[in-house]
Amino acid sequence: MNKSKKRVLVTGGTGYIGSHTTVELINAGYEPIIIDNLSNSSIEVLDNIEKITGIKPSFEQFDITDLKKLEAFFEKYSEIEAIIHFAANKAVGESVQKPLMYYHNNLVTLINLLKCQLKYNVPNIVFSSSCTVYGQPEKLPVTEQTPKQEAESPYGNTKQVNEEILIDTIKANPNIHGIALRYFNPIGAHPTALIGELPLGVPNCLVPFLTQTVAGIREQLSVFGSDYNTPDGTAIRDYINVVDLSKAHVIAIERLIENKGKSNFEIFNLGTGNGLSVLDIVNGFEKATGIKVNHKIVDRRAGDVEQIWANTSYANQELGWKAETSIEATLLSAWNWEKNIRGIK
Ligand code: UD1
Repeated sequence: MNKSKKRVLVTGGTGYIGSHTTVELINAGYEPIIIDNLSNSSIEVLDNIEKITGIKPSFEQFDITDLKKLEAFFEKYSEIEAIIHFAANKAVGESVQKPLMYYHNNLVTLINLLKCQLKYNVPNIVFSSSCTVYGQPEKLPVTEQTPKQEAESPYGNTKQVNEEILIDTIKANPNIHGIALRYFNPIGAHPTALIGELPLGVPNCLVPFLTQTVAGIREQLSVFGSDYNTPDGTAIRDYINVVDLSKAHVIAIERLIENKGKSNFEIFNLGTGNGLSVLDIVNGFEKATGIKVNHKIVDRRAGDVEQIWANTSYANQELGWKAETSIEATLLSAWNWEKNIRGIK
């Protein structure tokens, strides 16, 4: 099969996971076309994708909540084989403050894409979902069958509702096939340090806050809670390398295009299968880089679950995909990226 003709629309393609996935799509011989409103990313990402791959992807800047503009896009670019839908707001805390913005942006974008899939015969969609749909599960690790829990935030609820929207739409329209990928905690950056996570303002997530602390931008990393029921008392997550995660998207696209799925809508957990505590991350960073992380234990952060990590057997077997990069190499890549953007030698 000649994959060079396969066009894939990547919404949010200049963002953190979107940019890494665009690189992997190009590496695999696809033609990614990016739509991004640049609300949380920068246009220079396109040049850096070109530096890595030798190809600058096509790019359109607009907001896909605007159905008219999205329709004009599909009129312009024909024969799109698949969509990977990353474009969304993703800050849990902000979603509590601005629920309508989250519901509007995260739901209308998917609804508009599905409307266009039907109108322009785009057969496949991969949706960025999250382990947040599991809440604090009773049994660990979580499989795709672990029951979802009531969402803790509007952000989490948009992931749950979007999965339902996909299920219902695909049930009613068997010509559309979809895959939801439930990410655990994506971290790290491309090994070239040319693309990575670029949080606006004070980072909410652990690893960007940690690397900014080491870079001298933040004074100290707060470790949120040391009284959890875990071996060292700090909360446990499944931290997945962003390049490993991106590669799973290419496999998902191939599975859809080649119609290899077991059903029209499938769900896969994307994690490493290993739970690491906050202090494991601090220690892993120090081991990988030889640099001490200034940190202190503070109170728990409201809304955090105690521990979660993935059972990845289904993705391993069905997708033939497995997280490969060690936590040390991943944390080192995050530090190299931070150094690159801050001009630190
Ligand atoms: C959350 C969401 C996830 C979302 C992600 C990105 C939930 C359950 N998870 O992940 O769906 O994709 O945000 O927005 O809603 N920590 C510190 N100090 C810090 C920052 C974090 O100790 O300065 C700790 C947290 O308490 C947590 C761990 O580090 O135990 C990971 O936190 P974070 O990186 O924010 O991700 P999640 O909250 O797990």
